[in-house]
Amino acid sequence: MARRRRRFPGIFITLEGIEGSGKSTQAKRLGAHLRALGYRIVETREPGGTPLAEKIRAVLLDRTAEPFAPETEAFLVFAARRQHVTQVIEPALSRGAIVLCDRFNDSTLAYQGSARGLDLASLERMNGLATDELEPDLTLLFDLPAKTGLARRRRAAETNRLDRETLRFHEKVRAGFRSLARREPRRISLIDADRPEEAIARDVTQAVMPLLARTPRRKVRHAVR
Ligand code: TMP
Repeated sequence: MARRRRRFPGIFITLEGIEGSGKSTQAKRLGAHLRALGYRIVETREPGGTPLAEKIRAVLLDRTAEPFAPETEAFLVFAARRQHVTQVIEPALSRGAIVLCDRFNDSTLAYQGSARGLDLASLERMNGLATDELEPDLTLLFDLPAKTGLARRRRAAETNRLDRETLRFHEKVRAGFRSLARREPRRISLIDADRPEEAIARDVTQAVMPLLARTPRRKVRHAVR
């Protein structure tokens, strides 16, 4: 995989996993924890994170849409990502913030690659274009059986177009994520998400803390959201 070319003063952390893995809950907890410690935190998500990218998200997740060609799905994801990287992520990293991003380029490799069957090398090249080779400093991968995740998700909020894919689809997504974690063990921290929230949060803190040494804290009252 292409390596990040530029260094920013900030830290880029992504949270990945299948539906119902609890990553969004953990993102909120981590954000609150780091903010309370005095770090400047920007919490964001993909697809989305800017007004235009959120519009693309709505198109991507629309349950009533006509069937998507897998490539259409991928191009929409990349369009949203480029917008998000230029408008939100890079400026925040340049200001020295810690960016917590709920899903990023690994989701494309797992969903559009491993599950939809698009060529992984092509997706990686497109990811490189969409991000200008920006890569996370740390990726927290919340891993649990697809069946457990889907059951959680379907009990909770309204389901979207991708939630409604088959169990087999979500098993392929999980396998895709796990194979990325095997390939990049230094960047991707695999967290057993089939446990109580507190235990998962402890692992998250343990994975994140070593990165913080290089990031200055600031007055909590002025933390940037
Ligand atoms: P979520 O972030 O609320 O889980 O929903 C986002 C959905 O978008 C989820 O089903 C995964 C999907 N997705 C992709 O298929 N490819 C991507 O690159 C990203 C970021 C998300």
